[in-house]
Amino acid sequence: MRIAIVGGGYVGLVSGACLAAHGHDIVIVESDLGKVQSINQGNCPIFEAGLPELLAKTVGKTLKATDTIEDAVTISDATFIAVGTPFDGTSIDLTQIEQAAKDIGRALKKTSAYHLVVVKSTVVPGTTDNTVASLLEQTSGKKLGTDFGLGMNPEFLREGTAVEDFMTPDRIVLGGNDARAQNKLTQIYDCFADTDKVRVNNTTAEMIKYASNSLLATLISFSNEIGNLCSELPDTDVTSVLAGVCLDKRLSPIMPNGERVTPDITSYLAAGCGFGGSCFPKDVNALRKFSQQQGVKPSVLDAVINTNKLQPEQFVALLTDSMPELQGKTVAVLGLAFKPGTDDTRESPAIAVIQQLLKNDAQVVVYDPIVTTLPSEVPSSSNISIAKNLNEATKQADAILLVTAWDEFLALADVLNAQKRQPLVVDGRRVLTAGDFQHYRGIGLGPQTQNNGPDDDKSNKPDSNVASAA
Ligand SMILES: NC(=O)c1ccc[n+]([C@@H]2O[C@H](COP(=O)([O-])OP(=O)(O)OC[C@H]3O[C@@H](n4cnc5c(N)ncnc54)[C@H](O)[C@@H]3O)[C@@H](O)[C@H]2O)c1
Repeated sequence: MRIAIVGGGYVGLVSGACLAAHGHDIVIVESDLGKVQSINQGNCPIFEAGLPELLAKTVGKTLKATDTIEDAVTISDATFIAVGTPFDGTSIDLTQIEQAAKDIGRALKKTSAYHLVVVKSTVVPGTTDNTVASLLEQTSGKKLGTDFGLGMNPEFLREGTAVEDFMTPDRIVLGGNDARAQNKLTQIYDCFADTDKVRVNNTTAEMIKYASNSLLATLISFSNEIGNLCSELPDTDVTSVLAGVCLDKRLSPIMPNGERVTPDITSYLAAGCGFGGSCFPKDVNALRKFSQQQGVKPSVLDAVINTNKLQPEQFVALLTDSMPELQGKTVAVLGLAFKPGTDDTRESPAIAVIQQLLKNDAQVVVYDPIVTTLPSEVPSSSNISIAKNLNEATKQADAILLVTAWDEFLALADVLNAQKRQPLVVDGRRVLTAGDFQHYRGIGLGPQTQNNGPDDDKSNKPDSNVASAA
């Protein structure tokens, strides 16, 4: 099918490249000319595993980009909207969605064939059937249901594994305002024959996306709250606690052959320094506000956000516990991306961590294997610099804060051994082996006072003498 995708960001470009690889004719409409040129030259404008290879296979064949929406819509059978839907502090900001809907409507005026418009962006329930539908009708002069159809197809890909997630989805949610729209949308996804399809109305489709992200964010905040409690409990480690929780057969079933399956969902039951990214914070906030507007008190969602907001502070407190005075101290921050595998720093916990360190007059050195410029939210200061590699970042450091779980940081112990230095290491993701460091603090690791017995895992033992690093 010929498909236009408005918005060539993480979702639009990955969806476009994957659908193009499946044989659809895709044209991406992107307002950023730099991205348009980059895509048409086969250069990937974002860091995403597998995407450069997909672009190499499809660009110039079944995939191209343009900044001219009218041409793209009029030659297509369907148009997806994959533009950004940021949270403006009070509610979801629909500026990009509204602009896209108006532009598509004006283009539809020039066509006579039935056209399917599909909202792929994450939008609060009712947006597709109200805001988008009325803008399309107003600007096209056409009738929804007769001249064009309207679908809602939320996206579940995760940055870092976006191509794999799109190509092997858990489920595909197919929302539609009527059977004709839904059948056309289903046809687009015929190439995913083995995937479970959920055929629902548009509002339910919108709600499924928010409920899914809110559940995952809830698991993370729950784990962080348990972790914060473990931090206060002598001889307790949140990693052992949550590992024990996950052995519940309802979380990790035992198959008839006796083998235990560890579903991906258990990876969200882990304590850390908070969730970030372009989805969880804004989506939970948007659902929370939407819920309030409907007169439903979002107590759980409020708690999820509040716990998450405090988590970078909890993390920095592990440092200041051991090193109360940061003025004159050099602190290395490892990681800027909100998670490994992406160059996205939107709402990254690293931002809040750095802001707090600067407020405490620390000298901050930042290193991320992929992100080489500071996010705009970090105040410009002569007290912050970016290092080129792990060794450069840590060689002067009095303390090292691991914020993003990049694989490269697993070499930290070797790097410090080569430097013959043992600064304080504070592990915000619990990916390091405590026993490899003389001075180690980890999120969710309580003070160690005793040997816990023969099965005690020495690798998770913190340094009882950690205060000496201060
Ligand atoms: N990033 C994710 O992991 C992810 C996952 C699932 C769902 N989503 C949702 O998908 C949507 C898009 O997210 P994203 O991360 O791809 O955003 P993004 O900011 O990376 O990309 C949006 C793109 O749309 C372009 N754009 C905006 N208005 C335009 C217009 N009128 N015409 C042409 N181009 C326009 C922007 O220039 C930008 O390149 C959001 O609603 C988001 O919540 C994101």
